[in-house]
Amino acid sequence: MMDKFQYRYTSFGFVTICIGSIALVCLISRISTSFFDYSLQKFEFSFPESELRRSVYTSGDENRVVDSRHVSQQILAVKSSNSSLQSKPKKLSRRKMVEQGLGKARASIRKAASNRNVTLFNIDLPNPEVYRNPSALHRSYLEMERRFKVYVYEEGERPLVHDGPCKSVYAVEGRFIMEMEKGKTKFRTYDPNQAHVYFLPFSVTWLVKYLYEGNADAGPLRTFASDYIRLVSTNHPFWNRTSGADHFMLACHDWGPLTSQANADLFNKSIRVMCNANSSERFNPIKDVTLPEIKLFGGEVDSKLRVSKSLMASPRPYLGFFAGGVHGPIRPILLEHWKQRDPEMPVYEYLPKDLNYYDFMRSSKFCFCPSGYEVASPRVTEAMYAECIPVIISVNFVLPFSDVLRWESFSVIVDVSEIPRLKEILMSISDEKYERLKRNLRYVRRHFELNDPPQRFDAFHMILHSIWLRRLNLKLT
Ligand SMILES: *[C@@H]1O[C@H](CO)[C@@H](O)[C@H](O)[C@H]1NC(C)=O
Ligand SMILES: *[C@@H]1O[C@H](CO)[C@@H](O)[C@H](O)[C@H]1NC(C)=O
Ligand SMILES: *[C@@H]1O[C@H](CO)[C@@H](O)[C@H](O)[C@H]1NC(C)=O
Ligand SMILES: *[C@@H]1O[C@H](CO)[C@@H](O)[C@H](O)[C@H]1NC(C)=O
Ligand SMILES: *[C@@H]1O[C@H](CO)[C@@H](O)[C@H](O)[C@H]1NC(C)=O
Repeated sequence: MMDKFQYRYTSFGFVTICIGSIALVCLISRISTSFFDYSLQKFEFSFPESELRRSVYTSGDENRVVDSRHVSQQILAVKSSNSSLQSKPKKLSRRKMVEQGLGKARASIRKAASNRNVTLFNIDLPNPEVYRNPSALHRSYLEMERRFKVYVYEEGERPLVHDGPCKSVYAVEGRFIMEMEKGKTKFRTYDPNQAHVYFLPFSVTWLVKYLYEGNADAGPLRTFASDYIRLVSTNHPFWNRTSGADHFMLACHDWGPLTSQANADLFNKSIRVMCNANSSERFNPIKDVTLPEIKLFGGEVDSKLRVSKSLMASPRPYLGFFAGGVHGPIRPILLEHWKQRDPEMPVYEYLPKDLNYYDFMRSSKFCFCPSGYEVASPRVTEAMYAECIPVIISVNFVLPFSDVLRWESFSVIVDVSEIPRLKEILMSISDEKYERLKRNLRYVRRHFELNDPPQRFDAFHMILHSIWLRRLNLKLT
């Protein structure tokens, strides 16, 4: 298996015979350790399917799927779990200690969820208005900082694995992978037995770049992902133990979902962290995570979108703005109704060369963010950075961090059928409401920003927190 995998993908790395033999030695030692652990733990962790998804997201009733937008409130409703872990056995395996830690985290989050004392969280989260349950989020975040450990598989070679794009439209994919691989993050563990989740660190953007053969066929990408899973599930016991349910992949590229079809368990059980979060393509917010799409030319936020006095004071003569290609099902409707119809609402297909996109965003009160070919668009974060209230026009798009953030407090969500009434809808928003949306938007920016090194509550940590929440949803007993 390893041979086949290496044979197929070595042309992308710098494998010398020397490195190969070192790797083989490492591999052999890893296999033997893994087998040892596996035989020990095989029988301790059989769990019925019904146990898997019960937790903070569901209120004990197996069949009731809770809208992920209300996760924080739901934490409250969950009955305290009565697992065997509560009665302490004499000696716990590392695995059980991991599960016990999660149990404590769940209990403490549930407790915090009903506590409305703002002094507990207002230093870290000074604007409670934008959160579903600031107290639960704060506690959950602290528990994550205290406990959460990610194991990153070491198999595979650069650039397909352990690397990713850190510039342009899919930057968040590379930035996350690189942070886990090279950053000083305390969330990575090299001991797989202490991990809460296991990361499959391949980059779908790089798979497309290096393996795609230009015939609209994602087959080679799926073959790679499927081989990769076969490799790690042969080398280690972890994948088989949960059928991948405590594993995650991460992709901002549009083909993330297609690639995830490589393996039925990857698709149906693993945590898929993706920009392209289309719930009618079986993106499942109970287990999957929406990645915010963050466009970084040259790896940086455009100078016009950086926080500055001039941005804050920017006059906003336009009511609404859009410019972009007529992609997908929604934009044709927007353009049909509004393209160059109203001087107060500049709506373009492609912006004429002499006009600047970000200048328009900075001069508009609202920025239309209709889905294109895919539900996600970098416009949402661009609008956010430009302090232009995003007007989300999409169908079945699960918004990033919507399990903890109240999107309605810093954006306007409009149904496709209301596109003809767009101006009316925006005109009906009072100045007071607009100022409030803008204040909240300015505040949530920090959750959508990538920093180097990452800072607390920024995009990197919010993504990790989304994964942490999904993992809390698992009970491996
Ligand atoms: C926990 O389970 C034990 C035995 O199964 C039972 O006696 C006890 O009442 C349960 N406690 C709660 C709080 O449900
Ligand atoms: C809120 O929490 C703070 C810090 O723990 C405490 O000093 C304060 O008394 C609490 N306020 C209320 C109303 O419970
Ligand atoms: C996991 O399951 C696969 C398929 O059933 C099997 O080939 C593989 O050897 C298993 N892995 C381990 C570590 O036992
Ligand atoms: C996911 O599970 C469903 C059945 O629940 C199955 O039909 C589907 O093929 C699975 N997805 C993949 C990619 O295998
Ligand atoms: C979301 O998925 C559905 C089903 O595949 C598709 O019809 C729709 O066009 C997708 N939305 C976007 C914006 O791509």
